[in-house]
This record gives sequence, C-alpha cells and structure tokens, in this order.
Amino acid sequence: MPDNVMVVDHPLVAHKLTLLRAAATPTGDFRRLVREISLLMGYEVLRDLPTEPVHIETPLEPMTARQVSGKKLCFISILRAGNGILDGMVDLVPSARIGHVGLYRDPLSHEPIEYYFKVPDDMDQRLTVVVDPMLATGHSAAAAVTRLKRAGAGAIKFVCLIAAPEGIAALHAAHPDVPVYTAAIDRQLDEHAYIRPGLGDAGDRLFGTK
Ligand code: URA
Repeated sequence: MPDNVMVVDHPLVAHKLTLLRAAATPTGDFRRLVREISLLMGYEVLRDLPTEPVHIETPLEPMTARQVSGKKLCFISILRAGNGILDGMVDLVPSARIGHVGLYRDPLSHEPIEYYFKVPDDMDQRLTVVVDPMLATGHSAAAAVTRLKRAGAGAIKFVCLIAAPEGIAALHAAHPDVPVYTAAIDRQLDEHAYIRPGLGDAGDRLFGTK
C-alpha cells in the first residue's frame, strides 16, 4: 500500500461505517451517517492546516490564541455521491469554496467523460480536497484530479469512505502526489465495478433513488 494512503482508524468511524454498510439502514439515516463520518474524517484530513497567533479579548482578559491561517480551502465534490461528504466538510469549514465535477462512464470505452466542471478560478492558491464516497476503479477520481490540475490545483487530497485496492492503485499510478484518506479498504471490485463487501450504490442510497 502506498504510504500516502491513510485509513482513518477511529471507533466512531468504524461504528458509523458499519451502520452505513447495512442494507437495512434507511435513506435518512444513511445521509446523516455520511455527514457524521465526513466530519470525523475532515478532522484528520485537515490536521496539518497551518495556524497563526491572533490577539483576542476573552470576557476576563486579553490573550494570544490560534486561528487557521494562510492556505485557503476548496472542497470538490465528484457528482453526485460526493455531495454527501461535502455536507460534512462544509459543516467543518463553512467559509471554504466549493467546486463540482461531473463525470459519466462512456458505455463503450468505459472512459470517464466530463459533463460538468465548475471550480473557483484561483485553484492554484487553495488546498483542494476532492470528495467521493467510493474509490472503486479509480478512473473517475484520476480523471477529476487530472482536470483539477489542469485548472491550476496544486495541493490536492482525496477523501472517500470506502476504497477498493484497485481504485487506490489506479489513482496512485496516475497521481502519486495525491494522498488518499479513507474509512476502510475493502476486499475487491466485482465484475460490475462495485466494491465488495462495500455498501452498494452510494448515490442511490444517499438520494433514495434506484
Ligand atoms: N460506486 C458506488 O456507489 N458503489 C460501489 O460499490 C462502487 C462505485
């Protein structure tokens, strides 16, 4: 496993992921759990944000405290399932900018085709956190990162909930500079490119579609 793949190992993440995987978990709970896990993962993903001293007055006395400095953030949701994680990340950093990347898989070539791309125009000045719950084949993730780099993004992190070994390998082969944060690495992809054991179709379960 590449050493820039981080499995966020926390009892609460493991517990909530188990609930998420269970087929009986209804849509509303699924959505809430994705948001909660994203909050917990965001805590790890943003651990190295730089801080700077700031002078404030508490009700009792002046003090020098710390605030996040410098690096501006941009969250990029890979549509549509990425929006579930995005909600949790934006709860953590309400001032972050947000971009969206839409890709579909060409039925013949199986290559990802872009149908939507909207990101801030100063990507070169931002830490970019790309979110998509399932890192399955890695093709969409790699295509999204390629496109973001073309738009100027430099420092990019990728966050998912469940990764397949195949997806990690593909993303790492295309973009070895991009660290991957995941709550779990599952066994394998099946012949339909679903992650096993996985949690099913993350978009359908988030939005209650089928
Ligand atoms: N996308 C999903 O939603 N689930 C998988 O298992 C693989 C890709």
